[in-house]
Amino acid sequence: MIDRDTINRIFDTADIVEVISEFVQLKKTGANYKGLSPFANEKTPSFVVSPTKGIFKDFSSGKGGNVVGFLMEHEKLSYPEALKYLARKYNIEFQEKEKTEEDIHQENERESLMVVTSFAQKYFYNKIHNNVEGKAIGLKYLRERGIREDIVEKFQLGFSPEDREAFSKEALKAGYKADFLVKSGLSIERNGKYYDRFSGRIIFPIHGLSGSVIGFGGRTLRTDKEVAKYLNSPESEIYHKSRVLYGLYFARKAIVSQDRAFLVEGYTDVISLHQSGIENVVASSGTALTVDQIRLIKRFTPNITIIYDGDEAGIKASFRGIDLILQEGMNVRVLLLPDGDDPDSFSKKHNSSALLEFISENEQDFIRFKIGLLLKGASNDPVKMANLVTDIVQSIAGIPDTIPRSVYIKECSNLLEINERVLYSEVNKIRAKAREQKWRSGQIPTQVSKEIPTQPLVPSFVEEVYSEVEEREIIYFLLKYGKSKLYLVEEAGAEISVAEFIIREIKNENLEFENLVYKRVFLDIIQNLAVDIFTQQYEISKIWQKKDTHITLPGDNLGIEVPKALLAYKSGIVTRALNENQLLINKASTESDEEIITGLLKKNMSLKKIEMLILKELGERVINPRQQKV
Ligand code: CTP
Ligand code: MN
Repeated sequence: MIDRDTINRIFDTADIVEVISEFVQLKKTGANYKGLSPFANEKTPSFVVSPTKGIFKDFSSGKGGNVVGFLMEHEKLSYPEALKYLARKYNIEFQEKEKTEEDIHQENERESLMVVTSFAQKYFYNKIHNNVEGKAIGLKYLRERGIREDIVEKFQLGFSPEDREAFSKEALKAGYKADFLVKSGLSIERNGKYYDRFSGRIIFPIHGLSGSVIGFGGRTLRTDKEVAKYLNSPESEIYHKSRVLYGLYFARKAIVSQDRAFLVEGYTDVISLHQSGIENVVASSGTALTVDQIRLIKRFTPNITIIYDGDEAGIKASFRGIDLILQEGMNVRVLLLPDGDDPDSFSKKHNSSALLEFISENEQDFIRFKIGLLLKGASNDPVKMANLVTDIVQSIAGIPDTIPRSVYIKECSNLLEINERVLYSEVNKIRAKAREQKWRSGQIPTQVSKEIPTQPLVPSFVEEVYSEVEEREIIYFLLKYGKSKLYLVEEAGAEISVAEFIIREIKNENLEFENLVYKRVFLDIIQNLAVDIFTQQYEISKIWQKKDTHITLPGDNLGIEVPKALLAYKSGIVTRALNENQLLINKASTESDEEIITGLLKKNMSLKKIEMLILKELGERVINPRQQKV
């Protein structure tokens, strides 16, 4: 665990130019540094690092952020991993937060579970290779399914003997505690005796990202329907099935190099595709796809192709998956196999080049996939047709980024022959509703938002605008003064905490911090506040001890300074949105697309109006800070 103090020290010490220079050749141009984008293939440098602001911006891929964000993006590190990287680089001593007894207990438990799981993996592996029963039954079964020896080796497949106590007895004899055998799910206790969960099954070890085994799937060899075809390890301290993808450990390199991942349903699908030479493949094995699993893939590529069975269940499962993947801002394509085939059986019938050819010829982007399927039964039925449109619009509305969203609207409009503007307005309605729901179900009681009017609103069509400095300022107030009372100058008697005010302003408008670190801090604070905002006040000030960069404000100035910081933030957003809009106008003018230009000009006007309002308020605050009520 990394304490806030250390995090702050890391941020203060890390030199973004120095850090990035290890990965990108940078050249000084004016106040900034420039280089070739490490995220895209380009000939003219569009990757900019600003040492003063402590940020980078990659104009070809749109990525941007601070030094930690860069490491997360470029080196595929997690947030704590990136911090540790920097701490090592700059010799910053790690002030690991003192471990509580609970922490130590949990760590020991994890450790013990890992050890017993590793023992089991070796045991099962040994059985399939060196034991008469294992060879005659287990290995024979795999051979009959056409699984090659090198693949058995690679995936460390194993076998658990029929004798229901064989493994448990041996593990106990070897000194492993019964408690951990049970907690890992390897053994099941009944009347003081320990039985093997996986007895008589082929074992598929499940690897974590670091390559250690964290759980198992076991396939029965019986063909009767009485027993479950697969059994999986139960949830434990080391195995959370919703956060694991089978095969990811073996697939990650290929996923990065191919820049896409195939998502399949089962263990044998992953294994057979590997055998065919297709290695960028993972399975959600035994669960409906979860957001955590999608984010695991997102660390390595934004592109997913779902390959499911062409049966009803497979199609349903892919529908659920599609929307989740879209909501994560990723690109999703779908490949349905001929009914009756799964990737395992299909890959056995075709060699790998035929397989890849089939994939590239038959995979579809999700719009075409959905429309194709749904149209089958709907083309002559206006009610069904309407449902179809609603369904697709719903999917599109979930896409967080403006540009892909509009691309899909265009495609949908073409395919269904529905006016683009109609689709836009439907999508926007859904998004507005979702925003409202998010707010209502949010942690902030709605009465707060009713009592106090908000400052000028950023128009809802403004998205994806980056304001690093202003974001930092707001986080500063949140952390340092979050629990302080704020007396709003324009609201006689209105009293609200700084944190409540900021959170309300940000969430009311559905604004989101672009900087990954600030975003995380912000969400952390919201979560913590949800618990105790109105009872005991959250002690934010403790975790922000950076004193030098800001002049400490007397608490009674907060009523001016905090709203000002928010106005500055919004003003930054609106100004940048105006600039971007102007670029679009210029572009549209050269293409003289009247309809688009009109739309953009309208946006321009309303942005200008908002900018005026914000600047006016900002100006009043700077020039004439009204006396506050104390
Ligand atoms: N699954 C499970 N429990 C079951 C059935 C299935 O956890 N009782 C999971 C397994 O991860 C399995 C996946 O769902 O790999 C897909 O199930 P299915 O298509 O039935 O199995 P296959 O992967 O095709 O397995 P096989 O080829 O060995 O029949
Ligand atoms: Mn199968």
